[in-house]
Amino acid sequence: MAQTTARDVALRALHTWRTSRRSADEIFAELIAKTELSSSDRAFVLELFYGVLRNLLLLDFWIGALRSGNVDVDLRDILQLGLYQLLIAQVAEHAAVNETVELAPRRARGVANAILREAIRQRAKLENDAANQPLFLRTSHPEFLVARWQKHFGSEATEQLCRWNNQPPSLYARINSLKIDMEDFERRYPDARQTSAKNFVEFSHTFPAAALDAGHCYIQDPSTRLACEVLAPKRGERILDACAAPGGKTSYIAELMQNEGEVLAVDRQSPRLKMVEENLARLGVTIAQTLQHDWKHGPISSIEKFDRILVDAPCSNTGVMRRRVDVRWRLRPNEFTRMQQEQLSILRAVAPLLKDNGVLVYSTCSLELEENREAIDALQKEMSILRLMEENESLPFRDGFDGAYVAKLIKTA
Ligand SMILES: C[S@@+](CC[C@H](N)C(=O)[O-])C[C@H]1O[C@@H](n2cnc3c(N)ncnc32)[C@H](O)[C@@H]1O
Repeated sequence: MAQTTARDVALRALHTWRTSRRSADEIFAELIAKTELSSSDRAFVLELFYGVLRNLLLLDFWIGALRSGNVDVDLRDILQLGLYQLLIAQVAEHAAVNETVELAPRRARGVANAILREAIRQRAKLENDAANQPLFLRTSHPEFLVARWQKHFGSEATEQLCRWNNQPPSLYARINSLKIDMEDFERRYPDARQTSAKNFVEFSHTFPAAALDAGHCYIQDPSTRLACEVLAPKRGERILDACAAPGGKTSYIAELMQNEGEVLAVDRQSPRLKMVEENLARLGVTIAQTLQHDWKHGPISSIEKFDRILVDAPCSNTGVMRRRVDVRWRLRPNEFTRMQQEQLSILRAVAPLLKDNGVLVYSTCSLELEENREAIDALQKEMSILRLMEENESLPFRDGFDGAYVAKLIKTA
């Protein structure tokens, strides 16, 4: 039996992504678990699969320039994979062509081979034509999204944002001071580099498995710290983390409280709560409990009120598109108002659980007004006892980390 190659797995991943509603991350994790590949081959699958998804529009533009006739979906997958290697990843030409053409059904090999070789001959023209296309096409983003961002952020920031979304993400981790201090961490894991965010480090190639297993750090972008730091939980307080899974912020909240007090971590999805429990156990968090609850069904009944509540709401994820590579292709123009309704339904159910003078922090990893400031405006219109105290945001093109929005409200007595 022929050995499975990285290109083969990447092609299967693309096919599954195109024919299902599943996320790229889920597909990648499942395929990798089922296949025996070396770590460098796994990294190559990731680069090919995510690289094609990040560049879909541009690759289709090139396919259109190279072939006027019909291109069926299976041939398109092969061509996208081949052109990505040739024109974007700069993989050696003979391997990119020969090994990709091998993956095509026998009847399509001649066409695939001819198109990829033509791409090599026309490389300069294809690159030049691409550079003259509008931003949405040359950086492969939905046109409506780029138009929104241009209106909101301006042309220059939008160009930077689109480029940012197409870069492989940096590898960041938060040092878990419940288990280790920065000095000791740096001594044990010398690959770690400090970042401008206190307690966050960056790794060049891969995360040290030993550090993750020991709970010495948690994989997290520095932008995620904002919500917890604005929440500013104190030792001995009672905190609700209303949308907790997989537990990145719950564990940071417990760390800020030095493991003294109570944290209730709620989520609607049981399997994801299991991840929270595993993460908290590994990170040495002893003050958190988990509870499954869907806020769409209203508040939790008969429960003691909280000093502070974090609502890290489900959102469109437009601030984390360099990590969630396929998000852009699943978005529709009405997504942001639809998400706002979902976010408000959670906030409505959570707000009555806050003590008088308590703090409510609302956060998203979206860049869209509807899910951020406008959601907070709508909430305050309904509940005037909630007063907006501060707003904070992380913008990739300004701050160099993922996008995030944070609003702090106080419940007036
Ligand atoms: C952005 S994620 C939270 C990330 C988490 N705070 C962290 O830092 O690891 C949003 C979470 O909200 C949960 N969620 C979405 N709608 C919900 C609802 N109606 N009730 C409870 N949880 C909900 C999702 O299952 C998801 O785990």
